[in-house]
Amino acid sequence: MKKIGVFTSGGDSPGMNACIRAVVRAAVYHGVEVYGIKRGYNGMINGEIFKMESSAVSNVIQRGGTILKSARSKEFLTRDGRQKAYDQLQKFGIEGLVAIGGDGTFTGANIFHEEFGIPTMGAPGTIDNDLYGTDFTIGYDTAVNTALEAIDKIRDTADSHERVFFVEVMGRDSGYIAIPCAIGGGAEIVMIPETETTLESVIDALKNGWSRSKTSFIIIVAEGDDAGNATTIAAKVQEALPKMDARVTILGHVQRGGAPTAADRMLASEIGIACVEGLLAGRTSEMAGIVNRELVYTPFIETITKQKLINPNFTRMVDILSV
Ligand code: F6P
Repeated sequence: MKKIGVFTSGGDSPGMNACIRAVVRAAVYHGVEVYGIKRGYNGMINGEIFKMESSAVSNVIQRGGTILKSARSKEFLTRDGRQKAYDQLQKFGIEGLVAIGGDGTFTGANIFHEEFGIPTMGAPGTIDNDLYGTDFTIGYDTAVNTALEAIDKIRDTADSHERVFFVEVMGRDSGYIAIPCAIGGGAEIVMIPETETTLESVIDALKNGWSRSKTSFIIIVAEGDDAGNATTIAAKVQEALPKMDARVTILGHVQRGGAPTAADRMLASEIGIACVEGLLAGRTSEMAGIVNRELVYTPFIETITKQKLINPNFTRMVDILSV
């Protein structure tokens, strides 16, 4: 394989640039030409493809976002769109791809390989940490630390005003961001999609806390929780507890930005190299990940279909630590 392409797709995450850098440098190291593809699958379809030298990734390891831009492509979902993308790759002589993104990105890459035979390796780039086949995804550690910094600040004002704060964190259908925010942020309650937390239990926990002279509370709500979002949950609890002084904070996209932590830079670098070396070794349709500190390759189909479970002990820890 003499020419490979690299792109970022789906929601961006801190450390994507470090991963692009690792892909480019590993390709150059192995004497392979590397092309950057802008705006994910949309850029592939539109031929936004350019050659990257080693210097193209100077001074990016510490930068959040992605220098290649990112998008969620509707056109790539169609056979026609994928045909256009294949034609563009042919035009540039690109024989293999490194896709940095999440499950949507890998679903697309899997179909693309089945239809057109372009080998693709995946790097798990998402703040959600919801991909089976890696203990951590690129950007997760940074996102959690960003959220925690905000929660620490909320705690100060919650304490001063003796309020109950419902803090919503990202994660799509996963509670992986919420859990360390709750444990590390000293929250009283955590609500995640993987475990049912009824509104009655939230109300009981608050009453119980007040009876033990607790005056302020942090409730972490994962955005995908079945009971609702932070705003609707707060409104319902307020109805049951009219004296409660509640506020809602939605952390939102702040969790997606910022300089990657050391852990994310390390992970992104290791995985970027592993993707290139995997491609050169003849692998395809697999995600490179780290499990128990070991590099592993997991077929896309497993990363897409298997659920990454959350240790049930984590929610128990929140209960124990808030007693
Ligand atoms: O997948 C990353 C993520 O930030 C999720 O946590 C969130 O649900 C979603 O993307 C938000 O997407 P968008 O940036 O399109 O609003």
